[in-house]
Amino acid sequence: MTTTARPRADASAMSAARAMHLQLTAFSDLKARREPIVMVTAYDAPSARLADEAGVDIILVGDSAANNMLGYDGTTPVTMDEMVMLTRAARRGTKHAFLVGDLPFGSYQVSDQQAIENSIRLVKEAGADGVKLEGAGPSVDRARALAQAGIPVMGHLGLTPQSVTMLGGFKAQGRTAAKAMRLLDDALALQAAGCFAIVLEAVSAPAAEHISRLLKVPTIGIGSGVGCDGQVLVWHDLLGMTQGQAPRFVKAYADLAGSTLAALEAYAADVRSRAFPEERHTYGLPDEELAAFEKALEARPSEST
Ligand code: KIV
Repeated sequence: MTTTARPRADASAMSAARAMHLQLTAFSDLKARREPIVMVTAYDAPSARLADEAGVDIILVGDSAANNMLGYDGTTPVTMDEMVMLTRAARRGTKHAFLVGDLPFGSYQVSDQQAIENSIRLVKEAGADGVKLEGAGPSVDRARALAQAGIPVMGHLGLTPQSVTMLGGFKAQGRTAAKAMRLLDDALALQAAGCFAIVLEAVSAPAAEHISRLLKVPTIGIGSGVGCDGQVLVWHDLLGMTQGQAPRFVKAYADLAGSTLAALEAYAADVRSRAFPEERHTYGLPDEELAAFEKALEARPSEST
C-alpha cells in the first residue's frame, strides 16, 4: 500500500499511516499542499526507528556520518563501503519514512557510470529508496543519468561540504543578486534533470524563498530559512551532540551530550563505590544450592596460584 500523506494528529491514524511506506510522489504533494517536509539525518537502526516513530518524512543517511559517527575531520574521507553499511543499518530501523543514502565524495564525480553503479549499491545492497548528490555542473548530468536509470535522486546546492575547499570555507551562499541567480539556474537544471527534491544549505533566506517558489520540486532547507518547502537537521545537532561549535542555523532540541555525560559519570561513580549493581540487578542462587556449592568448595583442594 502507498500513501502520499504524513501521519495525522490522532493516534490510530498516526500509527496506521506510519505502517505505510512514503512514496516519492508524497513530496510534490506536500509541496502543493504547502505542508512542510520534515527530514533528519540518521546513521543507524535505533536512531532511524526513533525518527520513523516520530513521523519524520525523509531520513537521510548523510555523509555527515563521516564526522558525526566515524570521527573523520570532514565528509570527504567517508567511503562507499562505509555509507553502504550505515545506510543498511538505517534501513533496518525505517518502515514509514523515505530513506535517502548520500553518495560520498569520489563515488559519482568520475562518470555517469560510476554514479549509477554506486547508487545501485545504495539502493540494492543497502535498501535506500533514493540517493543524494552535491553540486551542479557535472552533477546535473549525473542526476539525469540516475533518474534515467530509475533511481530517485535528490540534489544539494549552496554550501556543499564535499567542495568546501573550493567554496573557500563554511560560508553562507547566494548573498549577491548574481550568486542567487546562479543558484536558481542550478536548481532549475537539477529539477529538469529529474531530481525529486533539492537540499539548499546555508543559502540566504530570501534567495532560498524565491528559488522554492519558482521550483516545482520541493526544496529542503538547512540554514536557508522558513521559505523552503521542508527542513533538515543533522541528528547530532538536533539532539545537542554537536562536536565543537554548532553552526548558527542549528537548533538543539535536547542536550543529549550533557545528559549522556552525566549518566556515564554517575555510572562510573556507582561502580567505583559499589553502589551498582544493587540486589535487584543480580540473579540469586537457592539457599540449598549455595550451601552445596560452599561445601563442595571446602572439599576442593586449594587452588594453586
Ligand atoms: O550529510 C548530510 O548530513 C547532509 C545534510 C546536511 C543535508 O547532506
